[in-house]
Amino acid sequence: MDLHVVILAAGKGSRMKSSIPKVLHPLAGKPMLERVLDTATGLSPKALHVVIGHEADQIRTAFLDQSINWHEQLEQLGTGHAVAQAAPTIPDDATVLVLYGDVPLIRAESLKRLIALVDNETLGLLTVELNDPSGYGRIIRNAADEIVAIVEQKDANSDQLAVTEVNTGIMCVRGSNLNAWLPQLSNKNAQGEYYLTDLVELAVNQGNEVEAEQPDSIEEVQGVNDRLQLCELECWYQSQQAEQLLLAGVSLFDPNRIDIRGSLAAGIDVVIDLNCIFEGHVALGDGAKIGANCIIINSTIGPGTIVKPNSIIEDSIVGSGAVIGPFARLRPATILKDNTKIGNFVETKKCEIGRGSKVNHLSYIGDAIIGENSNIGAGTITCNYDGVNKFKTEIGDGVFIGSNSSLVAPVVIRDNATVGAGSVITKPVEPNQLAVARARQTNISGWTKPVKK
Ligand code: UD1
Ligand code: CA
Repeated sequence: MDLHVVILAAGKGSRMKSSIPKVLHPLAGKPMLERVLDTATGLSPKALHVVIGHEADQIRTAFLDQSINWHEQLEQLGTGHAVAQAAPTIPDDATVLVLYGDVPLIRAESLKRLIALVDNETLGLLTVELNDPSGYGRIIRNAADEIVAIVEQKDANSDQLAVTEVNTGIMCVRGSNLNAWLPQLSNKNAQGEYYLTDLVELAVNQGNEVEAEQPDSIEEVQGVNDRLQLCELECWYQSQQAEQLLLAGVSLFDPNRIDIRGSLAAGIDVVIDLNCIFEGHVALGDGAKIGANCIIINSTIGPGTIVKPNSIIEDSIVGSGAVIGPFARLRPATILKDNTKIGNFVETKKCEIGRGSKVNHLSYIGDAIIGENSNIGAGTITCNYDGVNKFKTEIGDGVFIGSNSSLVAPVVIRDNATVGAGSVITKPVEPNQLAVARARQTNISGWTKPVKK
């Protein structure tokens, strides 16, 4: 049976108080709607439909690279009306799953259980028990415990309001039934809306069954209406990830002070100090230690490597046994081989630094390749840019660069060469040579010091 997923995202989201559409607000670094789309994609649907209305263009342009059937709901006349925008393109023999762009943490496992309930005579609902059901549609069951209706809070009597089983909004139904029942919805209710939830009563009245499944956790079906709810879900999601890391053998000093906006693969005996942020795909080898306040983005850190506090690493690959930071910045396309050292206030970019080489203090290394066991002195700068073009610096094995040197690229410094401190190197330095390129010191005797005017 082909699966068609319909994601509702036409609502205004005014409680976010934002110029950004609600469903584009990120949770753990990813827009809410993208999370729902990713989860839906995991179910291998035949088609993905998204119903948009408010800020339709902004939402559409955020997903240009995906094959999505967009449906514009010009007036928001209710959830039933919203699904009706997509329905004409959904075949009768499809299974239709309705999701919400502002319910970001729904999991595929729960949805698979829901989809499994549905056949030609059965409509499936995802429901939850809530201590405080206020605001939600209530699930009404008969004496035989069969679901017979959903009553919205605003339409409910006092008996119905006492019901604690609520509608999550997530529903699954056969295409033929959806197409038959949607035109039968009316808006004669407290809110004057076409309620998708009224499909339940229609189904039952026409001799069908309604069955319910429950998600593994309440947070999966929690909707976001304001930034407080978004923040609460973010915190819950982060705490789940922290828990998984701890159980997988990673030490965290405080599980409330780590943020993973993407995926973090960590070996055993990894230690992560407070307030670290991981973005995109990050891998940490066995025994790696990440100091406080580090930000690591799309990078691999090898086994036993120590990243000291306040370092930022992006799109980089670091080998084993390296020591980085504190206050180091590895910019994209940095490759550090095993046992390298990058010290404080060192910036690297598009460079490869060979095994055992050290750049310990206050340097910029960009568009460079450095061999093994070389020592780059404090304040060394690779002058890689002439204002228009970028040029490469090549440094061999066993090289010693004296402090405060400028290496004007393109330039080559071959194996075991030495550069004297304060040099401006513009020409190749051959193996084993000492290059000194600086104005010679002149001492002037009897110098009269300036006086204050
Ligand atoms: C809906 C359910 C309610 C359920 C609750 C769970 C109905 C009638 N009620 O109520 O039973 O307990 O969700 O959160 O379905 N939307 C559109 N177009 C519209 C109206 C809504 O796209 O015309 C979208 C909204 O953007 C939102 C979602 O549908 O993402 C839910 O709409 P909302 O108005 O918040 O429904 P609730 O009143 O919360
Ligand atoms: Ca809602």
